[in-house]
Amino acid sequence: MMKRIIPGAAMLYGSLLLAGCAASQKNTGSEQLPSLKEVFSKDFAIGTALNAAQIEEKDPGAAKLVPQQFNMATPENIMKAEVIHPRWNEYNFTLADKLIEYGKKHDIKINGHTLIWHSQLPAFARQIQSVDSFRLFFTNHINTVAGRYSGKVFSWDVVNEALNEDGSMRKSIFLSKLGDGFVTEAFRLAQTASPNTELYYNDYNNEQPAKRAGCIALIKKVQAAGVRIDGVGIQGHWHVGKVPLKDIEESILQYAALGVKVMFTELDIEVLPRNFQGAEVSQRMQNTPAMNPYTNGLPDSVQQQLADDYEALFKLFLKHKDKITRVTFWGVDDGQSWLNGWPIRGRTNYPLLFDRQFKPKPAFFKVIGTKTKS
Ligand code: XIL
Repeated sequence: MMKRIIPGAAMLYGSLLLAGCAASQKNTGSEQLPSLKEVFSKDFAIGTALNAAQIEEKDPGAAKLVPQQFNMATPENIMKAEVIHPRWNEYNFTLADKLIEYGKKHDIKINGHTLIWHSQLPAFARQIQSVDSFRLFFTNHINTVAGRYSGKVFSWDVVNEALNEDGSMRKSIFLSKLGDGFVTEAFRLAQTASPNTELYYNDYNNEQPAKRAGCIALIKKVQAAGVRIDGVGIQGHWHVGKVPLKDIEESILQYAALGVKVMFTELDIEVLPRNFQGAEVSQRMQNTPAMNPYTNGLPDSVQQQLADDYEALFKLFLKHKDKITRVTFWGVDDGQSWLNGWPIRGRTNYPLLFDRQFKPKPAFFKVIGTKTKS
């Protein structure tokens, strides 16, 4: 196994591997990898984002690894409005139905993502002029999509990214057409269409103090209207060496105090340069060679920092496991990660626990080690 990794990291890898194997002795052979979902089974669920090829099991590496490592999955794109609801009267459920079957087959719960979001909207929805027609689109979309998967998905991200960085409401088409009650309204509709499904608000940077305050106000507003909101998702798109642990801990405590479940829904730690924080998908940066420094592999120092960051995060998650119900990675392996294409196309990024050959990275064993060494 040692030859699978970059040479300089071999010693580190070796010792982590031993720690990892110790964790797996219970139900695997010594050659087999520890399983994240098993190691954290008493703490929180472990999820991954799945793309279309992975849902259709056309990606052999993922087909093997996903059922072994994860007990929840979020569709990376195929339940977003532009895919599932391409025209006013037309829905495309093919891949979403396949995802439900995939989940049943592998005993993986599905986290629906996402009903109401300003990005990846179908063109027809962006062009709707009248408030009444837009409201009809909004209502029909939630009723139809949440209704179809009622009892089939475990949860929905009902509303995604409704806030600005300062905690105010984002000037999205939903806000401009429907006013700031649209969030409560979305939860109300989802609750009726899918009564036994957990319903969440999801955002990035909502661990940052100002945005967090806006997020808390939003959750309280839904609760004050007597509408059910079960949890809040902190996406968790962070940067190596800069994971905001203090803000994350403060957020876990403050959100949990509202009586909602806390989850990390899109975790990745990127290693490439970027001049802004967060995950606004419309944001782009210019490509230069300096922006893509690791095309031939990740230097040991960065690999080590990535592993340390993941370790610190999981130690924090374990400390607050009574408040955290799920940790989902935004992708299975580095090759799949959206961070190879955003905010600059064609980069080589390394943000996840598994490399491009689906092999565990040092960060994987550090994460496993947070359990076995605690
Ligand atoms: C990303 C997907 O990973 C990409 O494939 C797609 O091109 C853009 O969206 N926040 C979210 C996710 O809530 O839906 C986004 O997913 C990443 C940021």
